[in-house]
Amino acid sequence: MAEWIHVCDVADIPVLGSRRVNRDKGPAVAVFRTSDDQVYALLDRCPHKGGPLSQGIVFGRAVACPLHNWTIALDTGTAREPDDGCTPRFSVKLEQGRVLLQVAELASIAIDVAPVMAGPCTRTC
Ligand code: FES
Repeated sequence: MAEWIHVCDVADIPVLGSRRVNRDKGPAVAVFRTSDDQVYALLDRCPHKGGPLSQGIVFGRAVACPLHNWTIALDTGTAREPDDGCTPRFSVKLEQGRVLLQVAELASIAIDVAPVMAGPCTRTC
């Protein structure tokens, strides 16, 4: 039987917004809340160039990445056409306004993903 951990309450997540859940290893998880209080969790990395999806704009069942505006489906993590890619998603359980994530998924999904690094500056002063 899966073990779940309470990460926040639904009320802690802004409507049409998100909250970051840090992990011991790997990138954080972004937990999103829709206008009808559905909650979804994705790795906080856009499949395009690693943008922070937690800082994107939630609309319907999707989030728009803040960097280049790719649209990522909250229920699957897939980018909408014409873009192509997928970010890992995490199972979510709601219990009396509490948001729970699976312990095993938090400890295993995308833990080996390297942090996003800024590119080198090529301009000389
Ligand atoms: S990094 Fe998200 S659209 Fe480019």
